[in-house]
Amino acid sequence: AQQMKPFPKNFLWGSASAAYQIEGAYREGGKGLSVWDQFVRIPGKTFKGTNGDVAVDHYHRYREDVDLMAKAGLKAYRFSIAWTRIFPNGNGEVNQEGLKFYDDLINDLIAHQIEPVVTIYHWDLPQALQDEYQGWESRRIIADFVNYAKTLFDNYGDRVKYWVTLNEQNVFMQHGYSMASHPPAVTDPKRMYAANHIANLANASAIKYFHEHGYQGQIGPSFAYSPIYAVDAAPENQLAADNAEQLNSYYWMDMYVFGHYPTIVRNWQEKQGIAPEITVEDQALLENPLSHPDFMGLNYYQTGTVAKNDTGVGAAAENTSGKKGTIKESGVPGMFKNVKNDYLQKTDWDWNIDPVGLQIALRRINSRYNLPVLITENGLGAFDTLEADHEIHDDYRIHFLREHVKAIHAAIDDGLQVIGYTTWSFTDLLSWLNGYQKRYGFVYVDRDEKSAKDLARYPKDSFYWYKQVIASNGEDL
Ligand code: BG6
Repeated sequence: AQQMKPFPKNFLWGSASAAYQIEGAYREGGKGLSVWDQFVRIPGKTFKGTNGDVAVDHYHRYREDVDLMAKAGLKAYRFSIAWTRIFPNGNGEVNQEGLKFYDDLINDLIAHQIEPVVTIYHWDLPQALQDEYQGWESRRIIADFVNYAKTLFDNYGDRVKYWVTLNEQNVFMQHGYSMASHPPAVTDPKRMYAANHIANLANASAIKYFHEHGYQGQIGPSFAYSPIYAVDAAPENQLAADNAEQLNSYYWMDMYVFGHYPTIVRNWQEKQGIAPEITVEDQALLENPLSHPDFMGLNYYQTGTVAKNDTGVGAAAENTSGKKGTIKESGVPGMFKNVKNDYLQKTDWDWNIDPVGLQIALRRINSRYNLPVLITENGLGAFDTLEADHEIHDDYRIHFLREHVKAIHAAIDDGLQVIGYTTWSFTDLLSWLNGYQKRYGFVYVDRDEKSAKDLARYPKDSFYWYKQVIASNGEDL
């Protein structure tokens, strides 16, 4: 038999996290409050009222965590920087203590030969900017975001070569402004598309700034892409699948890469009166090749399946990410409705398990955008059991990841360029809406919703499995 193409020699095997979900120390080191620090205090918003005040205390334990990464042989670690540690009020004076925290972390990673992959924005907007001008709803955020990004490039750009601008713009926009399940908890598609357009301008401006100022390295957004299938071969359902793909995904990725929105979505928005306003200057910025990403960051968890929707199920711009939670009777009237896929098993949180969907995602991104892909998230949220001997036998997670690594390998064998794979997550961490019971890590953290306990770290079986995968560059699964 013919041999498969191997994983590239410098493939970035790694793991990922986000500041709010791991750091804790929410009022230490001069940090300002973010919209999440506030939102979690509204009763009923998160699972059992969990918050990230302590999280898994990575702020104080990062050395121990980096040691564990080195033990697993990680080649890369993706983490996000809390804007509020650098600029407690979002703009104004730089907080030196915050700068130093990430400086130390980056140095520690590099000392252990782990490539830092830095996410500039993973949802923890400074509350001060929300209060001052309504955050993403004001064009004033563009300059503040670029200034924040520039501060990071200037301070860390000598050591950081991979930058992620916005994490899952589609998710934080839809949850924040359409489903009201993230801050600022708005339900208004018109406002969502307007804020989203401003986020596009901020993203493009930061990328352009990076490209124009001679920083070495690569930059791009991370997108939560759930490829869509039609429920069957009926042409109306195939058309619905195309509608969903355009509304859920091309709407964002086309803008990143081509600098314009898909015609079909634009037309649909205009009919509803919810299209964002685009100025001539916006157009020039967005279409400028310097504003376009060097890679596509892909957060892949699952696929979605749809059918035609002429019964009016769902709401305009209601969850189109197809990603979070059980989708019951949801969709966009006239465009598509989400349905069950009988071929797929589900996780404990009802997310479809679909490794082949990852190969499909990589192919679709390649054929539409022709960009290298950095898989910035993928993983299994599950309940884990800590045994008396402190072992965790998470064979279900090993199985899940193994099948996804096989899918990446198949895509590489297809000839596609995949830069790396940073799984979600390295240690267990706070799930924004699901507390601490939904675990993703290779390393168990002993805490729960009720108590931070001792926050001890215990490698799971999957930790040793991943170590062997990395050591063999993806051959020994
Ligand atoms: C992505 C986010 O949406 O999925 C992560 O970038 C998040 O921050 C992850 O934790 C898993 O989602 P959840 O809801 O299971 O925590």
